Amino acid sequence: MNVYFDNAATTPIDPEVIEAMVPVLKNNYGNPSSVHSDGRVARVLIEKSRKQIASHFNISPSEIYFTSGGTEADNMILRCAVKELGVTHIITSPLEHHAVLHTAENLEALENIRLSLVKVDEKGHVDLNHLEELLQTEDKTLVSLMHANNEIATVLPLKEVGDLCKANGAYFHSDTVQTIGHYALDFSELNIDFANCSAHKFHGPKGIGFLYISKEVKIKPMITGGGQERNMRAGTENIYGIVGLTTALDIAYQHVEEHQNHIQSIKSEMISRLKESFTDIHFNGDSESTDSLYTVLNVCFPNSEMDEMLLFNLDIEGVSCSSGSACSSGSNVGSHVLVALNSDMSRPSIRFSFGRFNTMEDVDRCMEAVLKIFKK
Ligand SMILES: Cc1ncc(COP(=O)(O)O)c(C=O)c1O
Repeated sequence: MNVYFDNAATTPIDPEVIEAMVPVLKNNYGNPSSVHSDGRVARVLIEKSRKQIASHFNISPSEIYFTSGGTEADNMILRCAVKELGVTHIITSPLEHHAVLHTAENLEALENIRLSLVKVDEKGHVDLNHLEELLQTEDKTLVSLMHANNEIATVLPLKEVGDLCKANGAYFHSDTVQTIGHYALDFSELNIDFANCSAHKFHGPKGIGFLYISKEVKIKPMITGGGQERNMRAGTENIYGIVGLTTALDIAYQHVEEHQNHIQSIKSEMISRLKESFTDIHFNGDSESTDSLYTVLNVCFPNSEMDEMLLFNLDIEGVSCSSGSACSSGSNVGSHVLVALNSDMSRPSIRFSFGRFNTMEDVDRCMEAVLKIFKK
């Protein structure tokens, strides 16, 4: 079996999650909108799940809307903020996931929205003074800044940014796709209007996630059709996905500290082993710091004749990892995040991302592969 160090792209589904989903797949085929008992049973599963999810974030179940995942939720937030809330100015950063960046660019082109990119430092930290400057405007503004960067692990101070947005009358969205299930979050304590979640990032199934919309904010749906999700997101609900998401989240939060310690120890071991083996190595963004997203390490390797082929050679040696975000890593274009940070693009960078199913033996095997490729 390969060493799987690509957990920021997606995680293996937890067998306990599968166990929770299978009976639903087999038995709960009723449409939750149907009034008969089969439908009602399915409806109960969904509403129980919503309540359980809300309890993890100290919010009301009515603030949770199920979606197909992180991308749909990012789209819904940005597009509905423009259409429904009269937002004419979006502030984001050049380091966002394409689900936010491309949507914002699309709104700039098609809806004439003013798009501002906040400055970031060399580690990817948002310049809060510049953000405050950008917020000095009469335009109705949405700020969309991710909680933790999926490529370089830099973490945003959510509370500070939320307070800044509130003080300046702006809506605040944080893409929390990489942090939900990995950090305890109390949305009731943060001035945050929108956040989003994707189950496959924490050992849940693909194709299911949710959107948090603060009850202070009222928007209309992006996808129209039936009246599902309290008229906010049409389409028959993905019941087994919702049950899988809820189970994955429960497991994640029952053991959140234990998982964090385990994953951080794997990341720290990788850092010290890499530093022992290479003098000319550094870590992109903030990923070396213990304050960064503990699942992600972005390594800038020295040049060698193997440069171009590093990712492929790691694959051949049985290590699955990534050169950036999974959405673009197959397409041989430099990571927009590393380009925005002015990273040395002549050197090969690899993102290793860890999960709770990884072991120290995986680190040994990965390092063996790295040293073999670099002929060390
Ligand atoms: C920060 C971030 N936002 C959004 C997404 C998209 O989520 P999904 O795969 O559920 O559409 C990802 C997935 O890579 C992500 O890392």
